[in-house]
Amino acid sequence: MSEEHHVVDTATGEDAPAEVSEERVQHIFGAIAEQYKKFNAVSSFGLYKGWLRATVDAANLAAESDLLDLAGGTGDVSYMAAQRRKPAHVQLTDFVPEMLAVAKKRYQMGENNGVPFDFEVVDAQDVPYDDCSYDAVTMAYGIRNIPDRMKALSEVHRVLKPSGTFACLEFSTPPNPVWRGLYHIYLKVMIPFWGWLFTKDRPSFVYLADSIRAFPPQEEYAQMLRDAGFKDVTWKNYAGGIVAIHTGTK
Ligand SMILES: C[S@@+](CC[C@H](N)C(=O)[O-])C[C@H]1O[C@@H](n2cnc3c(N)ncnc32)[C@H](O)[C@@H]1O
Repeated sequence: MSEEHHVVDTATGEDAPAEVSEERVQHIFGAIAEQYKKFNAVSSFGLYKGWLRATVDAANLAAESDLLDLAGGTGDVSYMAAQRRKPAHVQLTDFVPEMLAVAKKRYQMGENNGVPFDFEVVDAQDVPYDDCSYDAVTMAYGIRNIPDRMKALSEVHRVLKPSGTFACLEFSTPPNPVWRGLYHIYLKVMIPFWGWLFTKDRPSFVYLADSIRAFPPQEEYAQMLRDAGFKDVTWKNYAGGIVAIHTGTK
């Protein structure tokens, strides 16, 4: 395991105290929780559902699986897992209570497909569960927002059962320079525009675009997973690398 722990400002990737990013994340996701779904659908041209399905499939869930969804937000991955794989139990967690409040409403609407869920406010850098307690852990668009990423990855590894799977969906770096250039223009111009349109909160969406550009590319992030102790680390690009799903086993 690597001894080097970088705590970063998630908007820039530069070293900074964790509170800088944590307070910003509380503010942003506390404010956009109710609009989150609409924003995702529009800003990804509807592609995000396919990426969620692929994340759930990558998590290797079976009928007896206990799934921990970290940074689970309003529950997109958890509910997709319940509908697609019907695991035995889902622990749906997030740092921001307002996001979980929307997730709980979805539970009341029956989106859990009969699968029992528990909800808890959890910081992915300090997970309050026992070692070796989950068959699979998922995290979608979470790790990019976390200042001490190695701490979070070590926590994921710790709570997974041996042979358990971690499936992590995150924005990434398109390898083709032309596609990358176009994508970065889209990030700079369109994401803040959609943000303004939906929430009138343009700065939060400038953050979103900045944090995407500052996140390590595919191989660098894969190495962080290996450093945290994961085996068989691999990734698959979607939409030419706009997002990537990394997987690793314990
Ligand atoms: C872009 S949302 C993704 C939510 C959900 N996974 C999805 O796919 O819709 C990012 C989430 O990460 C959460 N988050 C940020 N920092 C976190 C941390 N340290 N621990 C747990 N969750 C965190 C935010 O509260 C937010 O709900």
